[in-house]
Amino acid sequence: MKDTQRSTLDAGRQTPNAEQRAFPRRDTVRQAIRQMHGYTPGEQPQDKRYIKLNSNENPYPPSPQVTNALQQAIGEDLRLYPDPLATRLRDKAAAVYGLSREQVLVGNGSDDLLTMLMRTFVGRGDRVAFPFPTYSLYDILVAMQEGEIVRVPFPVDFSLPPQLAEVEAKLTILCHPNAPSGTLTPLHQVEGLARRVHGILVIDEAYIDFADETALPLLHRYPHVVILRTFSKSFSLAGMRIGLAFGHPDLISELIKVKDSYNVSRLSIVAAVAALEDYAWMHQNVDNIRATRTRLSAALRELGYFVYDSQTNFVLARKQGVAQKPVYLGLKERGLLVRYFSSPELADCLRISVGTDEEITRLLAAMQELRRNV
Ligand SMILES: Cc1ncc(COP(=O)(O)O)c(C=O)c1O
Repeated sequence: MKDTQRSTLDAGRQTPNAEQRAFPRRDTVRQAIRQMHGYTPGEQPQDKRYIKLNSNENPYPPSPQVTNALQQAIGEDLRLYPDPLATRLRDKAAAVYGLSREQVLVGNGSDDLLTMLMRTFVGRGDRVAFPFPTYSLYDILVAMQEGEIVRVPFPVDFSLPPQLAEVEAKLTILCHPNAPSGTLTPLHQVEGLARRVHGILVIDEAYIDFADETALPLLHRYPHVVILRTFSKSFSLAGMRIGLAFGHPDLISELIKVKDSYNVSRLSIVAAVAALEDYAWMHQNVDNIRATRTRLSAALRELGYFVYDSQTNFVLARKQGVAQKPVYLGLKERGLLVRYFSSPELADCLRISVGTDEEITRLLAAMQELRRNV
């Protein structure tokens, strides 16, 4: 390039301001994305080993059948793409849950299935309603679609807010049992909601294996109901990322259109099929966790917390009006991670995953010590 040409170009250029220097340039990012905050997952620290009671992972290992099946699956076939529809897993899940293959869809975790539901049903300005506070990813996925978020506040006891069905939403989501409260809406009330909602009702049953009753029977009576399950909690497979959606075959075939082509890996499919073949292993771990949950809840009540009746593998403990950040930090210092939420409606709460008995004994000892010192 000649010097004269370069100087003409430079002359037309102005010193970029801070906004223009930002990368990616602010005006290239969609407004909806610029304005939203991403999801804040529970800490997954890499620096040292903590007793992790902050992400509702299962403290027990997956079935040995899962490990064996994975070992056998690691080999030459990994060069091949997985079955896009994970047919083996669809069939296995259909047999276990009394459904047809066409009523089942497999996701890369249930988060992936939530994304597919949003892509399918929610466009700009469409309403998505859910009781609040709940799983915070719902807000983010709606914002990504430029939908309208309608948070219907739970009453203090986390019972189902009656106004939920009045919102003319395209999608209503019920977290069943709810996170982070751990509470379960009785089935007859869920059915009442299914009768009254306007659009699709998504029932997120991520924690249902720890609860007394499932909403699965509603699937046979209400074609607009979708049920989500995950292998991350009761089956101890959070690291493999596997979720299931159950719904009417016509609805499932719409979801299939918007899913990523090969959304579930070969190894995940193998692991999930093996996990379903050893249901007894999962049940044994769930029984242990439920027993530890009872002990943890009682001990926290003795420490002066209000503890919601949990139907999950975690408990929400509240000290009305007393900020829990110092307790969270004190526990962290002692090598114990629990979940603390800074949002005003939950700042006086701690959410604690149910660990092994030994882990919970250590947590309670640390909390006793902190009570004396904080
Ligand atoms: C209520 C709820 N739904 C869905 C998920 C996502 O689970 P997955 O690991 O299957 O994506 C979680 C994870 O914590 C959850 O709490």
